[in-house]
Amino acid sequence: SRLVVLVSGSGTNLQALLDAIDAHPGGAEGFGAEVVAVGADRENIAGLERAEKVGIPTFVCPVKAYGSREEWDTALTDATGAHAPDLVVSAGFMKIVGKAFIDRFGGRFINTHPALLPAFPGAHGVRDALAYGAKVTGCTVHFVDSGVDTGPIIAQGVVEIRDEDDEAALHERIKEVERQLLVDVVGRLARHGYRIEGRKVTIQ
Ligand code: GRF
Repeated sequence: SRLVVLVSGSGTNLQALLDAIDAHPGGAEGFGAEVVAVGADRENIAGLERAEKVGIPTFVCPVKAYGSREEWDTALTDATGAHAPDLVVSAGFMKIVGKAFIDRFGGRFINTHPALLPAFPGAHGVRDALAYGAKVTGCTVHFVDSGVDTGPIIAQGVVEIRDEDDEAALHERIKEVERQLLVDVVGRLARHGYRIEGRKVTIQ
């Protein structure tokens, strides 16, 4: 499978995918997927540097470079589509895509979220779980639908919240689980194919 990965920040989830593909005895062929491009909504982030370092094409669509949100969404859709992805992976991409993107990639567009959806959706899932006093949280890999963090869930990982946790410490512990969960899910979706029926995801 051809993967396009969308990032907005440090790109450690992207790096985990690149490392897993690289470490697979059969390489991209064996893993079942290769990262053909990395896209972002902003310049000068580590996520883009991680791709550039290994010669993976990148593209950047800053929202403010376009006259409207719809124009941005169309530009992002076209820039992503130019790489003919089989699967689009949002790994720390911090923008909500619009109708054009979902129309084009819905059903083959996944996101990783640092909380146990449907709990704590949105941009501050780690902070919200901590503030709420939850005892466990975790991460969720799901298909993206027209809502925010509402699509069919593929896999989840649980992480305990410790009394001494602050947001950064908890997020780092979540990311350790999240990176492995994402690599496992992407590999399985790519190698085995999958079906989505309502909210149920079946990996063949
Ligand atoms: C991840 O925890 C992701 O779930 C959240 O932001 C983080 C991005 O981390 N939305 P990175 O850019 O992959 O290091």
